[in-house]
Amino acid sequence: MTIRVFAPAKINLTLHVTGQRPDGYHLLDSLVIFADAGDRLTFRPAADLSLTVTGPRAEGVPTDGRNLVLKAAALFEGEQGAAITLDKHLPAAAGIGGGSSDAAAALRGLSALWHQPLPDPDAVLSLGADVPVCLHPRAMRMRGVGEDILPGPVLPDRMGILLVNPGVEVSTPAVFKALSRKENPSMPHPPGWSSAAVMAHWLAEQRNDLEPPARRLAPVIREVLDAIAATEGCLLARMSGSGATCFGLYDSRAEAEAAARIIAPAAPHWWVQAASPYSTG
Ligand code: C5P
Repeated sequence: MTIRVFAPAKINLTLHVTGQRPDGYHLLDSLVIFADAGDRLTFRPAADLSLTVTGPRAEGVPTDGRNLVLKAAALFEGEQGAAITLDKHLPAAAGIGGGSSDAAAALRGLSALWHQPLPDPDAVLSLGADVPVCLHPRAMRMRGVGEDILPGPVLPDRMGILLVNPGVEVSTPAVFKALSRKENPSMPHPPGWSSAAVMAHWLAEQRNDLEPPARRLAPVIREVLDAIAATEGCLLARMSGSGATCFGLYDSRAEAEAAARIIAPAAPHWWVQAASPYSTG
């Protein structure tokens, strides 16, 4: 028996930082979607627990207890075995939830393999603030520090996404620390949209509050945003999460692919990926 779980890239279409808790964590209001670009995990029965990392972005990914996949496995009751492979396609520490999505996929895969319920919500959150939302890969609104998740709006039928990462790792705590204002206006209710253009128009009024501090720490993010914004048909260019990955929205996947064909050869060290929204339904 082999269980396969896709771990899609997470994209924060908006990310409003609305306050800070006494423990230092920040309160967020974020509209999250997922892309059909991501990592692939497989789970097979085995006597011992093991993790093998393969794929184009495997280099530097730990295979020991530091990996969130094994941290996720440790949340289940009792000692159990599984041979896990992680086929790594997403860049690490990139603002698109690579590690969080892997952890969520591991929770789902091991729950199925071991016939055990998912760990309780506090345990899931302890893996990372983005892990709860990654358990529900579809349009979601995320609040609190990441634990308060509810279904998001209906997305347009057709939309293209471009993801671009300049290969610079940005430290999430450092970006939060560099925020000049912790209390910013929250997000209005996202209404649902008939087209990518109408959605981009609404999104343009919203923000990623982490973009200015991330740009101060990694000025190349400005170049990435400019390169995306300059492509034909780009409706919105914004940074995701704490960066450095930025996204562009287009009316169609074909337009996102055309934009990727312009940017990739001009910046051979950047990770450039066209995608469509991913949804588990
Ligand atoms: O939970 P995660 O490991 O993704 O968070 C990394 C760091 O980002 C935290 O240690 C914290 O400094 C910061 N963070 C925050 N508020 C959040 C989420 C993350 O301050 N809601």
